[in-house]
Amino acid sequence: MGIMRIGHISINAIDIEESKKYYTNVMDMRITHEDEEGRVYLKCWDEWDKYSVVLNPSESAGMNDIAYKVEKDSDLDELALKLEERGIDTTMKAAEAVPFCGRTLNFKLPSGHDFILYAEKDFVGKDVGTTNPEPWPDGLTGVGTHWLDHALLMCPLDPENGINTVAQNTQLMVEVFDMKLAEQVVVGPDGSVQLATWLSAGNTPHDIAFVGGPETGLHHFAFFLDDWADILKAADVLGKRNVKVDVTPQRHGITRGNTIYFFDPSGNRNETFAGLGYAVYPDMPTVTWTEDELWKGIFYHTNQPVESFTNVYT
Ligand SMILES: [Fe+2]
Repeated sequence: MGIMRIGHISINAIDIEESKKYYTNVMDMRITHEDEEGRVYLKCWDEWDKYSVVLNPSESAGMNDIAYKVEKDSDLDELALKLEERGIDTTMKAAEAVPFCGRTLNFKLPSGHDFILYAEKDFVGKDVGTTNPEPWPDGLTGVGTHWLDHALLMCPLDPENGINTVAQNTQLMVEVFDMKLAEQVVVGPDGSVQLATWLSAGNTPHDIAFVGGPETGLHHFAFFLDDWADILKAADVLGKRNVKVDVTPQRHGITRGNTIYFFDPSGNRNETFAGLGYAVYPDMPTVTWTEDELWKGIFYHTNQPVESFTNVYT
């Protein structure tokens, strides 16, 4: 029992038509539903549930909520109890309160983010099916993203006043949701402040990550690609389509992933993340990065601060 994997992220779109074009033409997602309020639901070709991204028409960028999937509906009751025991208020909503999903357990993380757990969502299937599937579908004309892979949330951190919601969120993920702390960055006197954490629900390096900052926000959400060649091709596509790129192809020290950061039309930061890095098991020792090697952990080749990367988020 615990979190199985990432499910979906609900984000704001300032110009919904531009965002639709971007997520379909550049990212190669498919629209699976549009509702009367103008919300758009999308999935990637290698995903089997109805959607992984929801676009909400809005006047500003940012994330509304993020949802993770658990294995069984009864897990929601057990997890609700555990959260309530820790003093976290929860709301259990009926099926379809979140469209196409079964019951949902809703609560706020200590960092202030709206977090949703669910066990059931309408099944659509991978574009390549499950019987003698081809390795990829026809018709990919953009980045060809496989699946929504993870998100990195900005969490209020003010060690001088005893506030560290990175540590609080991390504790919750480990102790309630059975996630594994794969990597962390520690700073301050004797490395006493947990500045950032990467947590795994399965055996890839991360399904969610938290970084400390001045206020609650979304740093980025990431889509999976196979390998370095796909990352280079994705960067070419971003160049051809005039997408605003934040960081060109690089390797992370943390997670060992290959990466590009860029912005959707509303200014929400996206990432394409390639490679499985390494396998995570419950007995794997946590990797720790220290303050002096922090930037090597983030951008391994350059080991240099990128101001926009830390200061800009939605
Ligand atoms: Fe990432």
